[in-house]
Amino acid sequence: MKRVGIVGCGDISGIYLQNLTSMFSDRLAIAGVCDFFREKAERRAAEFGVAKIYNGMDEMLADPTVDMILNLSRPYEHFAVTEAALNAGKHVYTEKPLGASLEEGRKLDKLAKEKGLLIGGAPDTFLGAGLQTCRRLIDSGFIGNVVGASAFMVCRGHESWHPDPEFYYKHGGGPMMDMGPYYLTALVSLLGAVNSVTGVAKASFPTRTITSKQKYGTVVTVDVPTHVAGVMEFENGAVGTILTTFDVFTAQVPRIEIYGSEGTLSVPDPNTFGGPVLLYRPEAGEFKEMPLMFGYGENSRGLGLYDMAKHIEEKTPFRASGGLLLHVLEVMAGFDRAYADKAFVTMETKPERPASL
Ligand SMILES: NC(=O)c1ccc[n+]([C@@H]2O[C@H](COP(=O)([O-])OP(=O)(O)OC[C@H]3O[C@@H](n4cnc5c(N)ncnc54)[C@H](O)[C@@H]3O)[C@@H](O)[C@H]2O)c1
Repeated sequence: MKRVGIVGCGDISGIYLQNLTSMFSDRLAIAGVCDFFREKAERRAAEFGVAKIYNGMDEMLADPTVDMILNLSRPYEHFAVTEAALNAGKHVYTEKPLGASLEEGRKLDKLAKEKGLLIGGAPDTFLGAGLQTCRRLIDSGFIGNVVGASAFMVCRGHESWHPDPEFYYKHGGGPMMDMGPYYLTALVSLLGAVNSVTGVAKASFPTRTITSKQKYGTVVTVDVPTHVAGVMEFENGAVGTILTTFDVFTAQVPRIEIYGSEGTLSVPDPNTFGGPVLLYRPEAGEFKEMPLMFGYGENSRGLGLYDMAKHIEEKTPFRASGGLLLHVLEVMAGFDRAYADKAFVTMETKPERPASL
């Protein structure tokens, strides 16, 4: 059993608390929670029967009974929380991205190695039934040799529903850093590591107006690109393209498609754990829905943390690992750097594909 301390009791904490106290409770116990705003921690603790509310992160990190920290802070806060937790001798599972910049990610990776501790993190949707089924189909040759892949994350931003959406437009935010991890982690799990990237990025609107309830009408200055297009050369020779945008109302495009010499795979929304998985084979002449071959089809956020705890206890494969997170961060940062330099950027990280389930 691993005891988990949760830093950050905001919007996403609910599903983690729900799953940690139910589907993952045989291996993970919640040691306690904390938030800058004590009332947020109190609300979550009451909702999920958490006994301990720490008076801030430092008190949590000083508790010798806490084995792992679940970092649910905002992207620009991830580095400070993860660094402090590692320095306190705790393993860390962080929400995405690993850091708000590649430099932050590299520092954390180095620190974890020096301390002999593990960093893991979101997304863990690639361990879900939908994306694991896609992986099985590709690995079993259903689409032949992979030619390429395309990915589209199109929306008009999160300020219409998130109660505190400012962070999406600040350092570490933007559609690539926020949503790119789902798409890129799925692609790396399905196809392997990325070799080099290039891209174009811009912000179409200098400000955004919040239309969710609490902060309705508040204007946020945009500090990051909000429309990012990237091209990737994978190690296996596949060519990937990705568009992530907070600037477009809607579009008639797929989430992810993988193109092979013998067929096409339509991959489900990588921000979910389920299907549908659609396979096109020329002899059928149309897309057919494939049965899901794995468990965890429902919202299983926390599965990566569970898998990490299992790895620590039983030496099973470590899937949602820091190495994978750092690679995805390097790819995302690479699009921006490539655009600034008008160049191709070669990746320094080359993680193995995470083991399938
Ligand atoms: N909201 C979503 O739907 C969603 C979905 C998937 C992933 N995520 C990711 O989860 C993370 C959190 O997002 P959110 O929407 O819950 O944000 P949020 O702003 O609602 O909550 C973050 C909370 O962390 C607290 N916090 C930050 N640093 C702290 C510290 N050092 N000590 C104590 N409390 C601290 C803040 O006070 C805040 O309440 C982000 O990385 C985001 O990308 C969010």
